[in-house]
Amino acid sequence: MADVQNPPPYDLIILGASGFTGKYVVKEALKFLNSPSSPLKAIALAGRNQAKLAQTLEWATHPDTPPPIPILTADTNDVSSLHHLCAQTKIILNCVGPFRLYGEPVVAACAEIGTDYLDISGEPEFMELMEAKYHEKAVDAGSLVVSACGFDSVPAEMGFLFNSRQWVDPALPNRVEAYLSLESDKKIAGNIGTYESAVLGVANAHKLRELRRSRPKRSRPAIPGPPLKGSVLERQKKIGLWALKLPSADSIVVRRTFSTLTENPGGLPGKNESIEQMFNREAYWSTVKPAHFGVKIGSKSLLSIFCIMTVGVILGIFGQFSFGRWLLLKFPSFFSLGLFRKKGPSEDEVRSASFKMWFVGHGFSDSSLVSQEKPKPHMEIITRVMGPEIGYLTTPIILVQCALILLNQRDNLPKGGVFTPGIVFGPTDLQERLQDNGITFDVVSRSVFSV
Ligand SMILES: NC(=O)c1ccc[n+]([C@@H]2O[C@H](COP(=O)([O-])OP(=O)(O)OC[C@H]3O[C@@H](n4cnc5c(N)ncnc54)[C@H](OP(=O)(O)O)[C@@H]3O)[C@@H](O)[C@H]2O)c1
Repeated sequence: MADVQNPPPYDLIILGASGFTGKYVVKEALKFLNSPSSPLKAIALAGRNQAKLAQTLEWATHPDTPPPIPILTADTNDVSSLHHLCAQTKIILNCVGPFRLYGEPVVAACAEIGTDYLDISGEPEFMELMEAKYHEKAVDAGSLVVSACGFDSVPAEMGFLFNSRQWVDPALPNRVEAYLSLESDKKIAGNIGTYESAVLGVANAHKLRELRRSRPKRSRPAIPGPPLKGSVLERQKKIGLWALKLPSADSIVVRRTFSTLTENPGGLPGKNESIEQMFNREAYWSTVKPAHFGVKIGSKSLLSIFCIMTVGVILGIFGQFSFGRWLLLKFPSFFSLGLFRKKGPSEDEVRSASFKMWFVGHGFSDSSLVSQEKPKPHMEIITRVMGPEIGYLTTPIILVQCALILLNQRDNLPKGGVFTPGIVFGPTDLQERLQDNGITFDVVSRSVFSV
Protein backbone atom coordinates (compact mmCIF):
# COMPACT_ATOMS: atom_id res chain seq x y z
CA MET A 1 0.00 0.00 0.00
CA ALA A 2 1.23 3.52 -0.78
CA ASP A 3 3.30 5.04 2.04
CA VAL A 4 1.88 8.53 2.58
CA GLN A 5 4.96 9.65 4.54
CA ASN A 6 7.38 8.56 1.80
CA PRO A 7 5.62 8.77 -1.54
CA PRO A 8 7.38 6.98 -4.40
CA PRO A 9 9.50 9.20 -6.68
CA TYR A 10 7.31 8.74 -9.79
CA ASP A 11 3.63 9.41 -10.36
CA LEU A 12 3.62 6.92 -13.17
CA ILE A 13 5.90 4.57 -15.05
CA ILE A 14 5.05 3.66 -18.64
CA LEU A 15 6.09 0.03 -19.10
CA GLY A 16 6.56 -1.07 -22.71
CA ALA A 17 7.10 2.55 -23.71
CA SER A 18 9.19 1.46 -26.71
CA GLY A 19 6.28 -0.42 -28.30
CA PHE A 20 4.15 0.93 -31.14
CA THR A 21 1.33 1.93 -28.76
CA GLY A 22 3.69 2.71 -25.88
CA LYS A 23 5.41 5.50 -27.80
CA TYR A 24 2.07 7.22 -28.46
CA VAL A 25 1.21 6.85 -24.76
CA VAL A 26 4.49 8.60 -23.90
CA LYS A 27 3.64 11.44 -26.29
CA GLU A 28 0.19 11.87 -24.72
CA ALA A 29 1.48 11.69 -21.13
CA LEU A 30 4.12 14.36 -21.81
CA LYS A 31 1.34 16.86 -22.66
CA PHE A 32 0.31 16.75 -19.00
CA LEU A 33 3.74 16.59 -17.37
CA ASN A 34 4.23 19.63 -15.15
CA SER A 35 1.46 21.52 -16.92
CA PRO A 36 -0.52 23.89 -14.66
CA SER A 37 -3.09 22.07 -12.49
CA SER A 38 -1.85 18.66 -13.65
CA PRO A 39 -1.04 16.21 -10.85
CA LEU A 40 1.58 14.63 -13.11
CA LYS A 41 4.96 15.80 -11.83
CA ALA A 42 7.33 12.90 -12.40
CA ILE A 43 7.26 10.05 -14.88
CA ALA A 44 9.68 7.37 -16.03
CA LEU A 45 9.80 5.08 -19.04
CA ALA A 46 10.52 1.40 -18.59
CA GLY A 47 11.26 -1.59 -20.79
CA ARG A 48 13.94 -4.06 -21.66
CA ASN A 49 15.88 -2.01 -24.23
CA GLN A 50 17.40 1.29 -23.08
CA ALA A 51 18.35 2.42 -26.59
CA LYS A 52 14.80 1.88 -27.95
CA LEU A 53 13.34 3.72 -24.95
CA ALA A 54 15.67 6.68 -25.56
CA GLN A 55 14.55 6.71 -29.23
CA THR A 56 10.93 6.69 -28.06
CA LEU A 57 11.56 9.77 -25.96
CA GLU A 58 13.22 11.53 -28.89
CA TRP A 59 10.32 10.62 -31.20
CA ALA A 60 7.72 11.75 -28.66
CA THR A 61 9.34 15.15 -28.08
CA HIS A 62 10.56 15.84 -31.64
CA PRO A 63 11.56 18.52 -32.69
CA ASP A 64 12.26 19.64 -29.08
CA THR A 65 15.13 18.31 -26.99
CA PRO A 66 13.87 15.44 -24.81
CA PRO A 67 13.34 16.40 -21.15
CA PRO A 68 15.42 14.51 -18.58
CA ILE A 69 13.00 11.63 -18.05
CA PRO A 70 14.51 8.57 -16.37
CA ILE A 71 14.67 5.36 -18.35
CA LEU A 72 14.41 2.23 -16.24
CA THR A 73 15.20 -1.34 -17.21
CA ALA A 74 12.55 -3.99 -16.57
CA ASP A 75 11.67 -7.29 -18.17
CA THR A 76 8.44 -9.13 -17.47
CA ASN A 77 10.51 -12.33 -17.15
CA ASP A 78 12.45 -10.76 -14.27
CA VAL A 79 10.16 -10.48 -11.26
CA SER A 80 12.66 -8.51 -9.18
CA SER A 81 12.89 -5.84 -11.90
CA LEU A 82 9.09 -5.50 -11.76
CA HIS A 83 9.07 -5.24 -7.95
CA HIS A 84 11.73 -2.57 -8.22
CA LEU A 85 9.53 -0.60 -10.68
CA CYS A 86 6.43 -0.95 -8.52
CA ALA A 87 8.23 0.32 -5.45
CA GLN A 88 9.15 3.53 -7.29
CA THR A 89 5.78 4.66 -8.58
CA LYS A 90 2.15 5.30 -7.73
CA ILE A 91 0.89 3.83 -11.03
CA ILE A 92 2.17 1.43 -13.69
CA LEU A 93 0.75 2.01 -17.17
CA ASN A 94 1.29 -1.33 -18.86
CA CYS A 95 1.63 -1.32 -22.68
CA VAL A 96 3.41 -4.69 -22.94
CA GLY A 97 1.30 -7.13 -24.91
CA PRO A 98 0.00 -9.64 -25.85
CA PHE A 99 -1.14 -9.53 -22.25
CA ARG A 100 -1.80 -13.27 -22.11
CA LEU A 101 1.96 -13.74 -22.65
CA TYR A 102 3.45 -10.89 -20.62
CA GLY A 103 0.76 -9.29 -18.42
CA GLU A 104 0.45 -11.57 -15.40
CA PRO A 105 3.84 -10.93 -13.74
CA VAL A 106 3.16 -7.17 -13.89
CA VAL A 107 -0.28 -7.51 -12.26
CA ALA A 108 1.21 -9.90 -9.68
CA ALA A 109 3.98 -7.42 -8.79
CA CYS A 110 1.52 -4.52 -8.47
CA ALA A 111 -0.85 -6.57 -6.30
CA GLU A 112 2.12 -7.65 -4.15
CA ILE A 113 3.59 -4.18 -3.63
CA GLY A 114 0.29 -2.23 -3.55
CA THR A 115 0.88 -0.19 -6.71
CA ASP A 116 -2.01 0.90 -8.92
CA TYR A 117 -2.08 -0.68 -12.37
CA LEU A 118 -3.78 0.32 -15.64
CA ASP A 119 -3.41 -1.40 -18.98
CA ILE A 120 -4.70 -1.39 -22.56
CA SER A 121 -5.53 -5.07 -22.83
CA GLY A 122 -8.45 -6.14 -24.98
CA GLU A 123 -8.06 -9.81 -24.00
CA PRO A 124 -11.04 -11.12 -21.99
CA GLU A 125 -9.32 -14.26 -20.75
CA PHE A 126 -6.37 -12.29 -19.38
CA MET A 127 -8.72 -9.86 -17.61
CA GLU A 128 -10.89 -12.55 -16.07
CA LEU A 129 -7.86 -14.62 -15.04
CA MET A 130 -6.30 -11.60 -13.32
CA GLU A 131 -9.57 -11.00 -11.47
CA ALA A 132 -9.73 -14.65 -10.41
CA LYS A 133 -6.11 -14.81 -9.25
CA TYR A 134 -5.30 -11.35 -7.89
CA HIS A 135 -8.50 -9.61 -6.77
CA GLU A 136 -8.20 -10.59 -3.10
CA LYS A 137 -4.49 -9.81 -3.02
CA ALA A 138 -5.06 -6.43 -4.64
CA VAL A 139 -7.82 -5.62 -2.13
CA ASP A 140 -5.49 -6.45 0.77
CA ALA A 141 -2.54 -4.53 -0.67
CA GLY A 142 -4.64 -1.50 -1.71
CA SER A 143 -3.71 -1.87 -5.37
CA LEU A 144 -6.27 -0.85 -7.96
CA VAL A 145 -5.92 -3.05 -11.06
CA VAL A 146 -7.91 -1.92 -14.10
CA SER A 147 -7.48 -3.49 -17.54
CA ALA A 148 -9.08 -2.36 -20.81
CA CYS A 149 -8.33 1.35 -20.27
CA GLY A 150 -7.95 1.95 -24.00
CA PHE A 151 -10.21 1.87 -27.03
CA ASP A 152 -10.96 -1.59 -25.68
CA SER A 153 -13.23 -1.00 -23.75
CA VAL A 154 -13.73 2.55 -22.49
CA PRO A 155 -15.75 4.01 -25.41
CA ALA A 156 -18.06 0.98 -25.14
CA GLU A 157 -18.37 1.22 -21.36
CA MET A 158 -18.75 4.99 -21.12
CA GLY A 159 -20.87 5.08 -24.29
CA PHE A 160 -23.20 2.42 -22.95
CA LEU A 161 -23.49 4.17 -19.57
CA PHE A 162 -24.18 7.45 -21.40
CA ASN A 163 -26.99 5.87 -23.47
CA SER A 164 -28.42 4.06 -20.45
CA ARG A 165 -28.62 7.33 -18.49
CA GLN A 166 -30.71 8.98 -21.21
CA TRP A 167 -33.61 6.66 -20.30
CA VAL A 168 -35.08 8.98 -17.70
CA ASP A 169 -37.91 7.56 -15.53
CA PRO A 170 -40.42 6.20 -16.39
CA ALA A 171 -38.58 5.19 -19.62
CA LEU A 172 -36.68 1.90 -19.50
CA PRO A 173 -34.11 0.51 -21.93
CA ASN A 174 -34.21 -3.13 -23.01
CA ARG A 175 -31.18 -3.36 -25.30
CA VAL A 176 -28.38 -1.17 -26.57
CA GLU A 177 -26.46 -2.18 -29.68
CA ALA A 178 -23.19 -0.45 -30.49
CA TYR A 179 -22.10 0.00 -34.12
CA LEU A 180 -18.44 0.84 -34.61
CA SER A 181 -17.44 2.60 -37.79
CA LEU A 182 -13.76 3.30 -38.61
CA GLU A 183 -13.16 6.14 -41.03
CA SER A 184 -10.19 7.55 -42.92
CA ASP A 185 -9.27 8.98 -46.29
CA LYS A 186 -6.11 6.86 -46.09
CA LYS A 187 -5.59 3.15 -45.45
CA ILE A 188 -6.85 1.93 -42.04
CA ALA A 189 -4.30 -0.38 -40.40
CA GLY A 190 -3.25 -1.71 -37.01
CA ASN A 191 0.10 -2.83 -35.64
CA ILE A 192 1.18 -6.47 -35.31
CA GLY A 193 0.86 -6.31 -31.47
CA THR A 194 -2.93 -6.10 -31.64
CA TYR A 195 -3.06 -8.71 -34.38
CA GLU A 196 -0.92 -11.13 -32.35
CA SER A 197 -3.21 -10.62 -29.34
CA ALA A 198 -6.24 -11.40 -31.55
CA VAL A 199 -4.62 -14.52 -33.07
CA LEU A 200 -3.73 -15.86 -29.61
CA GLY A 201 -7.23 -15.00 -28.38
CA VAL A 202 -8.80 -17.12 -31.12
CA ALA A 203 -6.38 -19.98 -30.45
CA ASN A 204 -7.17 -19.98 -26.72
CA ALA A 205 -10.92 -19.32 -26.78
CA HIS A 206 -11.50 -22.67 -25.02
CA LYS A 207 -9.38 -21.52 -22.05
CA LEU A 208 -11.81 -18.67 -21.36
CA ARG A 209 -14.70 -21.15 -21.35
CA GLU A 210 -12.76 -23.45 -18.99
CA LEU A 211 -11.91 -20.53 -16.69
CA ARG A 212 -15.55 -19.50 -16.45
CA ARG A 213 -16.65 -23.07 -15.75
CA SER A 214 -14.16 -23.25 -12.88
CA ARG A 215 -15.40 -20.02 -11.23
CA PRO A 216 -18.55 -19.25 -9.25
CA LYS A 217 -21.26 -17.77 -11.51
CA ARG A 218 -21.43 -13.99 -11.29
CA SER A 219 -24.70 -12.15 -10.69
CA ARG A 220 -26.54 -10.76 -13.69
CA PRO A 221 -28.95 -7.84 -13.54
CA ALA A 222 -32.59 -8.54 -14.34
CA ILE A 223 -33.33 -6.95 -17.72
CA PRO A 224 -37.03 -6.52 -18.38
CA GLY A 225 -38.39 -7.27 -21.86
CA PRO A 226 -37.29 -9.60 -24.64
CA PRO A 227 -33.76 -11.07 -24.92
CA LEU A 228 -31.20 -9.67 -27.38
CA LYS A 229 -31.60 -11.28 -30.78
CA GLY A 230 -30.13 -10.34 -34.08
CA SER A 231 -28.48 -11.61 -37.19
CA VAL A 232 -24.72 -11.89 -37.72
CA LEU A 233 -25.00 -9.44 -40.64
CA GLU A 234 -27.53 -6.62 -40.75
CA ARG A 235 -28.35 -3.40 -42.54
CA GLN A 236 -28.73 -0.64 -39.93
CA LYS A 237 -30.85 1.80 -41.89
CA LYS A 238 -30.99 4.52 -39.23
CA ILE A 239 -27.26 5.11 -39.37
CA GLY A 240 -26.73 3.92 -42.93
CA LEU A 241 -24.32 1.07 -42.16
CA TRP A 242 -23.90 -2.59 -42.94
CA ALA A 243 -22.96 -4.26 -39.68
CA LEU A 244 -21.33 -7.49 -38.58
CA LYS A 245 -21.18 -8.98 -35.06
CA LEU A 246 -17.79 -8.11 -33.53
CA PRO A 247 -16.39 -10.64 -31.05
CA SER A 248 -14.45 -7.94 -29.18
CA ALA A 249 -13.89 -7.64 -25.44
CA ASP A 250 -16.36 -4.77 -25.14
CA SER A 251 -19.58 -6.63 -24.44
CA ILE A 252 -17.80 -8.93 -21.98
CA VAL A 253 -16.31 -5.98 -20.09
CA VAL A 254 -19.68 -4.17 -19.96
CA ARG A 255 -21.30 -7.38 -18.67
CA ARG A 256 -18.66 -7.62 -15.92
CA THR A 257 -19.35 -4.02 -14.93
CA PHE A 258 -23.03 -4.87 -14.55
CA SER A 259 -22.23 -7.99 -12.54
CA THR A 260 -20.17 -5.91 -10.11
CA LEU A 261 -22.95 -3.34 -9.95
CA THR A 262 -25.58 -6.02 -9.28
CA GLU A 263 -23.41 -7.41 -6.49
CA ASN A 264 -22.73 -3.88 -5.15
CA PRO A 265 -25.78 -1.67 -5.76
CA GLY A 266 -24.68 1.96 -5.59
CA GLY A 267 -21.19 1.07 -6.85
CA LEU A 268 -17.97 0.62 -4.90
CA PRO A 269 -17.15 3.00 -2.04
CA GLY A 270 -14.04 5.15 -2.37
CA LYS A 271 -11.24 4.38 0.07
CA ASN A 272 -11.59 7.76 1.82
CA GLU A 273 -14.61 9.32 0.17
CA SER A 274 -16.57 12.13 1.78
CA ILE A 275 -20.30 11.81 2.55
CA GLU A 276 -20.96 14.17 -0.37
CA GLN A 277 -18.92 11.99 -2.71
CA MET A 278 -20.77 8.91 -1.49
CA PHE A 279 -24.12 10.58 -2.36
CA ASN A 280 -22.78 11.63 -5.76
CA ARG A 281 -21.60 8.11 -6.56
CA GLU A 282 -24.86 6.49 -5.48
CA ALA A 283 -26.85 9.13 -7.37
CA TYR A 284 -24.80 8.43 -10.51
CA TRP A 285 -25.40 4.68 -10.40
CA SER A 286 -29.10 5.16 -9.62
CA THR A 287 -29.46 6.74 -13.09
CA VAL A 288 -27.80 3.80 -14.86
CA LYS A 289 -30.26 1.18 -16.11
CA PRO A 290 -29.00 -2.23 -17.24
CA ALA A 291 -29.84 -3.48 -20.73
CA HIS A 292 -28.70 -6.19 -23.11
CA PHE A 293 -25.58 -5.09 -24.94
CA GLY A 294 -23.85 -6.17 -28.15
CA VAL A 295 -21.22 -4.68 -30.46
CA LYS A 296 -21.04 -4.73 -34.25
CA ILE A 297 -18.54 -3.39 -36.73
CA GLY A 298 -20.20 -1.27 -39.38
CA SER A 299 -19.35 0.17 -42.76
CA LYS A 300 -21.17 1.98 -45.54
CA SER A 301 -19.61 -0.51 -47.97
CA LEU A 302 -20.81 -4.10 -48.04
CA LEU A 303 -17.46 -5.02 -49.61
CA SER A 304 -15.55 -3.79 -46.53
CA ILE A 305 -17.84 -5.88 -44.35
CA PHE A 306 -17.09 -8.95 -46.48
CA CYS A 307 -13.33 -8.23 -46.14
CA ILE A 308 -13.66 -8.07 -42.34
CA MET A 309 -15.74 -11.25 -42.37
CA THR A 310 -13.10 -12.99 -44.51
CA VAL A 311 -10.31 -11.96 -42.11
CA GLY A 312 -12.42 -13.28 -39.21
CA VAL A 313 -12.89 -16.62 -40.97
CA ILE A 314 -9.15 -16.85 -41.81
CA LEU A 315 -8.18 -16.13 -38.18
CA GLY A 316 -10.80 -18.59 -36.95
CA ILE A 317 -9.45 -21.41 -39.15
CA PHE A 318 -5.68 -20.77 -39.13
CA GLY A 319 -5.66 -19.76 -35.46
CA GLN A 320 -6.70 -23.29 -34.43
CA PHE A 321 -3.38 -25.03 -35.17
CA SER A 322 0.23 -24.05 -34.54
CA PHE A 323 1.43 -24.06 -38.17
CA GLY A 324 -1.60 -21.90 -39.07
CA ARG A 325 -0.71 -19.45 -36.29
CA TRP A 326 2.88 -19.38 -37.50
CA LEU A 327 1.66 -18.45 -40.99
CA LEU A 328 -0.72 -15.80 -39.64
CA LEU A 329 2.04 -14.15 -37.61
CA LYS A 330 4.71 -14.50 -40.30
CA PHE A 331 2.56 -12.83 -42.97
CA PRO A 332 0.17 -10.52 -41.07
CA SER A 333 -0.50 -8.15 -43.94
CA PHE A 334 -1.36 -10.98 -46.37
CA PHE A 335 -3.66 -12.91 -44.03
CA SER A 336 -5.39 -9.80 -42.63
CA LEU A 337 -5.93 -8.37 -46.13
CA GLY A 338 -3.79 -5.37 -45.18
CA LEU A 339 -5.65 -4.58 -41.92
CA PHE A 340 -2.52 -5.27 -39.81
CA ARG A 341 1.15 -4.69 -40.58
CA LYS A 342 4.46 -5.61 -38.98
CA LYS A 343 5.48 -1.96 -39.02
CA GLY A 344 2.09 -0.57 -38.05
CA PRO A 345 0.37 2.42 -39.67
CA SER A 346 2.35 5.50 -40.67
CA GLU A 347 1.99 8.70 -38.65
CA ASP A 348 -0.03 10.13 -41.51
CA GLU A 349 -2.39 7.18 -41.50
CA VAL A 350 -2.83 7.47 -37.75
CA ARG A 351 -3.56 11.21 -38.02
CA SER A 352 -6.12 10.68 -40.80
CA ALA A 353 -8.22 8.03 -39.07
CA SER A 354 -11.18 8.45 -36.74
CA PHE A 355 -14.04 6.42 -35.29
CA LYS A 356 -17.71 6.74 -34.62
CA MET A 357 -19.47 4.40 -32.24
CA TRP A 358 -23.25 4.58 -32.41
CA PHE A 359 -25.33 3.26 -29.53
CA VAL A 360 -28.82 2.35 -30.69
CA GLY A 361 -30.97 1.81 -27.61
CA HIS A 362 -34.45 0.27 -27.68
CA GLY A 363 -36.85 0.15 -24.78
CA PHE A 364 -40.11 1.37 -23.35
CA SER A 365 -41.42 4.90 -22.83
CA ASP A 366 -42.99 3.66 -19.60
CA SER A 367 -41.65 0.81 -17.48
CA SER A 368 -45.24 -0.30 -16.70
CA LEU A 369 -45.56 -1.46 -20.33
CA VAL A 370 -43.01 -4.22 -19.66
CA SER A 371 -45.59 -6.20 -17.70
CA GLN A 372 -47.73 -6.66 -20.85
CA GLU A 373 -47.77 -10.09 -22.43
CA LYS A 374 -44.92 -10.19 -25.01
CA PRO A 375 -43.81 -6.58 -24.45
CA LYS A 376 -42.30 -5.02 -27.57
CA PRO A 377 -39.81 -2.14 -27.24
CA HIS A 378 -41.27 0.95 -28.94
CA MET A 379 -38.86 3.71 -27.93
CA GLU A 380 -35.43 4.38 -29.41
CA ILE A 381 -32.57 6.56 -28.18
CA ILE A 382 -29.48 6.84 -30.37
CA THR A 383 -26.28 8.25 -28.89
CA ARG A 384 -22.78 8.43 -30.32
CA VAL A 385 -19.16 8.50 -29.21
CA MET A 386 -16.63 9.89 -31.70
CA GLY A 387 -12.92 10.35 -31.58
CA PRO A 388 -9.58 10.13 -33.39
CA GLU A 389 -7.83 6.96 -34.56
CA ILE A 390 -8.62 4.11 -32.14
CA GLY A 391 -5.37 2.30 -31.33
CA TYR A 392 -2.72 4.99 -31.14
CA LEU A 393 -4.58 8.25 -30.45
CA THR A 394 -7.81 7.37 -28.64
CA THR A 395 -6.18 4.60 -26.57
CA PRO A 396 -3.38 6.86 -25.21
CA ILE A 397 -5.88 9.68 -24.49
CA ILE A 398 -8.05 7.31 -22.45
CA LEU A 399 -5.16 5.63 -20.62
CA VAL A 400 -3.58 8.94 -19.63
CA GLN A 401 -6.90 10.45 -18.48
CA CYS A 402 -7.60 7.36 -16.35
CA ALA A 403 -4.13 7.76 -14.81
CA LEU A 404 -4.74 11.47 -14.09
CA ILE A 405 -8.00 10.57 -12.34
CA LEU A 406 -6.11 8.06 -10.19
CA LEU A 407 -3.56 10.72 -9.34
CA ASN A 408 -5.97 13.41 -8.24
CA GLN A 409 -9.07 11.52 -7.11
CA ARG A 410 -7.57 8.43 -5.51
CA ASP A 411 -9.52 8.85 -2.25
CA ASN A 412 -12.81 8.65 -4.16
CA LEU A 413 -11.87 5.35 -5.83
CA PRO A 414 -11.96 1.83 -4.35
CA LYS A 415 -9.05 1.07 -2.04
CA GLY A 416 -7.99 -1.90 -4.14
CA GLY A 417 -9.08 -4.85 -6.26
CA VAL A 418 -9.34 -5.94 -9.88
CA PHE A 419 -12.15 -4.08 -11.63
CA THR A 420 -13.46 -2.96 -15.00
CA PRO A 421 -12.99 0.66 -16.15
CA GLY A 422 -16.76 1.32 -16.04
CA ILE A 423 -17.08 0.42 -12.37
CA VAL A 424 -14.05 2.51 -11.33
CA PHE A 425 -14.29 5.50 -13.69
CA GLY A 426 -18.04 5.59 -14.52
CA PRO A 427 -18.95 7.90 -11.63
CA THR A 428 -15.85 10.12 -12.05
CA ASP A 429 -15.36 12.99 -14.51
CA LEU A 430 -13.83 10.65 -17.13
CA GLN A 431 -16.47 11.47 -19.74
CA GLU A 432 -15.86 15.24 -19.38
CA ARG A 433 -12.11 14.67 -19.54
CA LEU A 434 -12.44 12.62 -22.72
CA GLN A 435 -14.62 15.33 -24.23
CA ASP A 436 -11.97 17.95 -23.36
CA ASN A 437 -9.45 15.79 -25.20
CA GLY A 438 -11.32 15.15 -28.44
CA ILE A 439 -13.55 12.15 -27.67
CA THR A 440 -17.14 13.39 -27.81
CA PHE A 441 -20.45 12.01 -26.52
CA ASP A 442 -23.76 13.17 -27.94
CA VAL A 443 -27.43 12.31 -28.19
CA VAL A 444 -28.40 11.84 -31.84
CA SER A 445 -32.14 11.15 -31.65
CA ARG A 446 -35.04 10.09 -29.46
CA SER A 447 -38.14 8.52 -30.98
CA VAL A 448 -41.27 6.78 -29.79
CA PHE A 449 -43.08 4.48 -32.25
CA SER A 450 -46.70 3.44 -32.07
CA VAL A 451 -47.13 -0.14 -30.88
N1 LIG B 1 -7.01 -1.32 -25.98
C1 LIG B 1 -6.74 -1.05 -27.21
O1 LIG B 1 -7.61 -0.60 -27.92
C2 LIG B 1 -5.35 -1.27 -27.71
C3 LIG B 1 -4.79 -0.41 -28.64
C4 LIG B 1 -3.48 -0.63 -29.07
C5 LIG B 1 -2.77 -1.71 -28.56
N2 LIG B 1 -3.35 -2.54 -27.66
C6 LIG B 1 -2.63 -3.70 -27.11
O2 LIG B 1 -1.37 -3.29 -26.63
C7 LIG B 1 -0.45 -4.36 -26.75
C8 LIG B 1 0.84 -3.85 -27.40
O3 LIG B 1 0.58 -3.59 -28.76
P1 LIG B 1 1.71 -2.90 -29.67
O4 LIG B 1 1.16 -2.86 -31.03
O5 LIG B 1 2.17 -1.63 -29.03
O6 LIG B 1 2.87 -3.99 -29.59
P2 LIG B 1 4.44 -3.83 -29.79
O7 LIG B 1 4.75 -2.71 -30.70
O8 LIG B 1 4.93 -5.19 -30.14
O9 LIG B 1 4.99 -3.44 -28.34
C9 LIG B 1 5.19 -4.38 -27.34
C10 LIG B 1 6.00 -3.76 -26.23
O10 LIG B 1 6.17 -4.74 -25.22
C11 LIG B 1 7.55 -4.81 -24.90
N3 LIG B 1 7.89 -6.15 -24.41
C12 LIG B 1 7.71 -7.33 -25.04
N4 LIG B 1 8.15 -8.33 -24.26
C13 LIG B 1 8.59 -7.77 -23.12
C14 LIG B 1 9.14 -8.28 -21.93
N5 LIG B 1 9.35 -9.58 -21.75
N6 LIG B 1 9.48 -7.41 -20.94
C15 LIG B 1 9.28 -6.08 -21.10
N7 LIG B 1 8.77 -5.53 -22.21
C16 LIG B 1 8.43 -6.38 -23.20
C17 LIG B 1 8.27 -4.48 -26.18
O11 LIG B 1 9.60 -4.12 -25.86
P3 LIG B 1 10.79 -4.04 -26.97
O12 LIG B 1 10.63 -2.68 -27.59
O13 LIG B 1 12.00 -4.20 -26.18
O14 LIG B 1 10.52 -5.15 -27.96
C18 LIG B 1 7.40 -3.32 -26.65
O15 LIG B 1 7.75 -2.15 -25.95
C19 LIG B 1 -1.15 -5.46 -27.54
O16 LIG B 1 -1.61 -6.44 -26.64
C20 LIG B 1 -2.33 -4.76 -28.17
O17 LIG B 1 -3.44 -5.60 -28.37
C21 LIG B 1 -4.62 -2.34 -27.22
